[in-house]
Amino acid sequence: MIQPMKYPGGKGKTYQHIINLMPPHRVYIETHLGGGAVLRNKRPAEHSIGIDADERVVAQWRARTADPPTDTAYPDLELICGRAEEFLARYSFLGDELVYVDPPYHPETRRQPRVYRCDYDVEDHVELLSLLARLPCPVIVSGYAHPLYDELLGGWNQRTFQAKTHTDVRTETLWFNFEPPDQLHDSRHRGDNFRERQTLKRRMERLQDRVRAMDPAERHAFAQWLHDTYPVAPRSISV
Ligand SMILES: C[S@@+](CC[C@H](N)C(=O)[O-])C[C@H]1O[C@@H](n2cnc3c(N)ncnc32)[C@H](O)[C@@H]1O
Repeated sequence: MIQPMKYPGGKGKTYQHIINLMPPHRVYIETHLGGGAVLRNKRPAEHSIGIDADERVVAQWRARTADPPTDTAYPDLELICGRAEEFLARYSFLGDELVYVDPPYHPETRRQPRVYRCDYDVEDHVELLSLLARLPCPVIVSGYAHPLYDELLGGWNQRTFQAKTHTDVRTETLWFNFEPPDQLHDSRHRGDNFRERQTLKRRMERLQDRVRAMDPAERHAFAQWLHDTYPVAPRSISV
């Protein structure tokens, strides 16, 4: 895992909610990278692409990933400095990608003045959301509720969670253009809060211990039954 980076609006304490929604994918595209808390904490995809319009953000990522110790390396990460909209408009999608989008907040939902060197006005939100609405692959968008989002992402599913800011607790919304998946790309963060995650983790460890303790023939029969009864779905899902 790449070392954490503190970043305004960063998802350092809430990335689990986003990862717990991610269907299996081959290519991961995070379009407004910032400190990239989601990318840093999710299981890497075969290929990952991180984009940010701020050259200082991208330079910091390049410095950190140039010659990392092996335990902080992130496999096959392509960094792009540029506008998300231009990248998405040009990219040749195959459908096995997952796009995660965490743009600067809509000006009317912000409690703080401008915090990013590259920021968004209302027209930028309109351009981005109109483009996202047409993408032919699973997309997850983070933000605070606003009528513009409901209008331009009409028909998308939503999930909300509480997130601490430096001053209070606010409700963040995730908009996504697919049904909540039965199979996750990364199931290590399952659970809505710390306690639930601990409980699920321990339950999984107990199950794994029982499988490990089986004699090899019994384990093989069990693995065969599991495979026949619950075949693993292909990587991409349809939108
Ligand atoms: C809300 S922050 C992302 C925080 C990130 N999710 C994290 O965990 O740290 C938004 C980012 O979008 C970048 N940005 C602003 N306009 C952009 C654009 N048109 N295309 C790509 N990135 C942009 C900003 O530089 C900033 O880093």
